Amino acid sequence: MIPFVDLHPVTRLVSDAVAPRWASALESCELVGGSAVTRLEGELARCLGARAAVACASGTDALRLALQAAGVVPGMHVALPNLTFWATFEAVAQLGAIPVLIDVSPDDLQIDLDELRRAHARVRFRHAIAVHLYGWASTALSEIRTFCADRDVCLIEDAAQAFGVELDGRPVLAGAAIATLSFYPAKVIGGCMDGGAVVSSDPALVETVRSLGNHGRSAHYAHQHVGWSSRMAGLQAHYLLEVVARAGEIIDARRRLVAAYRGRWSDAGIAGRLRGPSGGITDNGYLAVVECDRPAAGHVAAFRRRAIEVRRIYPETIDQQPPARGRFVAVSDLAHSHGFVERVLDLPLYYGLPERDLAAVVQAAAEIIR
Ligand SMILES: Cc1ncc(COP(=O)(O)O)c(C=O)c1O
Repeated sequence: MIPFVDLHPVTRLVSDAVAPRWASALESCELVGGSAVTRLEGELARCLGARAAVACASGTDALRLALQAAGVVPGMHVALPNLTFWATFEAVAQLGAIPVLIDVSPDDLQIDLDELRRAHARVRFRHAIAVHLYGWASTALSEIRTFCADRDVCLIEDAAQAFGVELDGRPVLAGAAIATLSFYPAKVIGGCMDGGAVVSSDPALVETVRSLGNHGRSAHYAHQHVGWSSRMAGLQAHYLLEVVARAGEIIDARRRLVAAYRGRWSDAGIAGRLRGPSGGITDNGYLAVVECDRPAAGHVAAFRRRAIEVRRIYPETIDQQPPARGRFVAVSDLAHSHGFVERVLDLPLYYGLPERDLAAVVQAAAEIIR
């Protein structure tokens, strides 16, 4: 079976370097927080072009902490795209806020600026989330940032999938007011357990996030907020330090695989388009996203019969998930995201995917996607 994702190449890449780190962490009993977490936060800020980073326990926690630090309270509206992982919606709903679902642009599959404008004229939300979906980002990202800044809308960038993405040759998050990351193991830069981070160039916001993630502490037994228990484990920070140190190699390899898919795809006569970012965005090789000409649900089993695992990310939009019913506002029929999820198919892609497997996937796609 050619798997959709295989984590072994990364765990094997770092295991020799991680083992002595873990031994010393166990010896020093730096199990939650500690010097490795502090070092990782410094490395993250440096790589991502932000002033500071706060590590936490997951990407979903990072979103909740960022939203809360940015002032989201129950009953407020928060705009977010209708095509994203469920956690983006979940974080907003868990804070008691009301999601305003915005359709995606068919051009880049990211939040649609025109609809964001229309929704703001109607709902006057003070917070919005732009998700850098699929390891790309919106071609209109600079305009989205300006639109939000001009209207005093706090824009939170959900970069769970976007470590290593660049805008005009610089880390995409260098221009973000506040952004969140996930280190779920299958991400481009994945940890050995759940993990996340908030990055920002606003020192006050960073300190609020840090306090919120640690029970709202101002001192060990003094609390300035009702916060959460969301700190990063020392063992995770040690592991991530070794993965982050190899981020260039991992991301370059993934980008080469996407390029190899693209090279083979064009001549294969497949009834589907291999999508990717445009404008000044450089992807991080997170996903190989195909938009088929026709509905794609039946293709998953056809690939499986050829011993290839493909996935559909995502087969349903946020508004189509049952728990979303009655819990959101929308200003359009969200038709672009609805149409896209019927036709989406994602091909195997991971650091270490053998070129012969990639060739077999394209061969199968030529037979299946017609
Ligand atoms: C866009 C997006 N946001 C948020 C998350 C949540 O991250 P985590 O699984 O680390 O909580 C993910 C993770 O899959 C994601 O893809």
